[in-house]
Formats: sequence, C-alpha cells, structure tokens
Amino acid sequence: MVKSEGNRLAVALGDVSLQNPIIPASGTFGYGVEMSQLYDINILGALSFKGTTLNARYGNALPRIAECSNYGMINAVGLQNPGIHEVINTQLPLLYSIFHQPIIANVSGFSIDEYQQVCSLLDKEERISILEVNISCPNVHQGGMAFGTTAEAAAEVTRAVKQVTDKPVYMKLSPNVTDIVAIARACVEAGADGLCLINTVLGMRIDIRRRKPVIANKYGGYSGRGIFPLALRMVNQVAKSVSVPIIGCGGVETAEQVVEMMMAGATAVEIGAANLVQPTICKQIIEDLPSLLDELKINRIEDIIGIV
Ligand SMILES: Cc1cc2nc3c(=O)[nH]c(=O)nc-3n(C[C@H](O)[C@H](O)[C@H](O)COP(=O)(O)O)c2cc1C
Repeated sequence: MVKSEGNRLAVALGDVSLQNPIIPASGTFGYGVEMSQLYDINILGALSFKGTTLNARYGNALPRIAECSNYGMINAVGLQNPGIHEVINTQLPLLYSIFHQPIIANVSGFSIDEYQQVCSLLDKEERISILEVNISCPNVHQGGMAFGTTAEAAAEVTRAVKQVTDKPVYMKLSPNVTDIVAIARACVEAGADGLCLINTVLGMRIDIRRRKPVIANKYGGYSGRGIFPLALRMVNQVAKSVSVPIIGCGGVETAEQVVEMMMAGATAVEIGAANLVQPTICKQIIEDLPSLLDELKINRIEDIIGIV
C-alpha cells in the first residue's frame, strides 16, 4: 500500500503503511463484519482480528465478564474462536470482501508447535500483513500467558514463529510481569519485527452478596480506562529499549490518549474495551485527530512518535 504524501495521519509499521494509527484490538472487533454495519471500517488504519488457535474453542464457563463501572472491565473469554481452518475458510474471505486495509492476524497457542502450525497456515494468506502473536492471554489455564512471562519462553515462541513465516511478526506482551523490558528485548533479539503492548492485567471482582467471584474463572483480564497509565508507562519503557515499531494498547479511548501513546513511543495504537462501550469509538478518534493535531501544532502525526 502506498502512503499518500498528503496524509498527515499516515504511519508505517516497518514496511506496512497505515492511513492512520488507529487499530481495533484483537477480541473487541470480531472479524469486522458486525462493526461494518455501524460504519465504514475502511477508515481504520488496520484491524486485528480475534485470537486464533489451531482447534475451535468454546472458551471459559459463564459469566466471563465483570464490568467495573466507569473504570473498565474484566473478561475471561478464554480464547473462544472457531479454529484456524474455519477462520481461513469462512471468516477471512468475508473479511477480505469488506475490508481493504492491512489486516493483523492475532494468534494464540498452547504449545510452540501450535503457534508454528497456526502461523504457517496464516503465512499463506496473502492479504494478512502482520502476525500478532499473543503470548499474554491471562484467561487460559495452560499456554497463553505462560509463554509471555519469562524472557526465555517469549524468545522461544518468537524464534519458532519466525522459522515458519516471512510476514512481520509482532509479539504481544503481557503486563503481568516484573520486567517487561527484559521480555521485549528477548523477543527482539529472537527476531521479532515489532511488539504490541499491553494485553490485559490480571484482575478480580467479588459479588459481595453471593460471596463469590463475579467471573466463573475467578480471575480475568482487566482492560479499559483504568489501565491507560500502566500501558503508557510500559510502552515508554520498552520504546526506550528497543528499536522495532511498537503498537501501543491499553485503556485508550480518545484522540488525546492516542497522541499520548505515540509520544510515549507507539507507532500505532490499538483500541480494545472502548469498542464494547462505544462501538463507533475508532471512527470518532480518527475524526477527532486532525483538529487535535492543529491545536497541538503537529504537522504529521509520525513526527511525535517517541518524543517523550
Ligand atoms: C473481550 C476481550 C477479548 C480479548 N481477546 C483477545 C484475544 O483474542 N487476543 C489478544 O491478543 N488480546 C485479546 N484481548 C486484549 C485486547 O486486545 C487488549 O490488548 C486489552 O484489552 C487492552 O486494551 P484495552 O484496555 O483498550 O481493552 C481481549 C480483550 C477483551 C476485552
């Protein structure tokens, strides 16, 4: 895709040019089909679709969502998805027919072998621009986050995936660690082309009347408004330590926060839980960005990446 010279919102994730930095985050936008009934999703910079595993997964027992009034939500969906073959045969052709911007495939696995199998199948899909490898899902009992909490395991998944694809590989990092910089560095040394951070923060709510956890799974991934400062700090720390592009994610719901994320070091920004509260939020942010740039006297948005 050619970046238009006149487009001040354009950014580049390595060789992948985006018309703007706004990307719906995996798990909060499905495969785009429902959202496309609400607005023209081709205004997005890119789209990251629901995490895909080798086999179909029903996910965790219900209830899986705990709302946190005005500070976010906890989910323990547990990677519900139809499995890679169904995604390739049914969901992707539909997505290709309605979406003409770069597509990010979000991949999960329960073993190194599974990550490799799913990524090698996605490697054959010409329309997919980036593989976003989720080593940070807190809602499954094995695999998922287990690969994202030590530098060694994170590097091992990165190396394994790089062996089976020529597409850019972005490792999606967990905030549930002591030293995210060490894990980010290990992924980059193992060949990651970029990083995406953060996934959800492990959290909990209790129903005080039932005296039980709200979520059947007990703990879940906290996301939305409340995690923004944490995500911003981690993006900034990682951006100062690696030289690959970073997709910033976590609690973003306004154009101002997109600018903040980019000043902290993100090249593009994913919007997650906010889509579930306000389904047209990505459209709103894209529309708000030009006047905000005017107000801040920023000519091209890419000029602010990592300035703080
Ligand atoms: C309901 C739900 C499902 C999610 N599913 C996935 C997933 O399949 N793969 C993944 O990498 N992240 C998944 N996430 C994490 C988001 O992509 C994002 O990293 C996280 O929610 C933080 O961003 P936010 O605060 O803007 O929501 C999910 C989040 C939510 C709320």
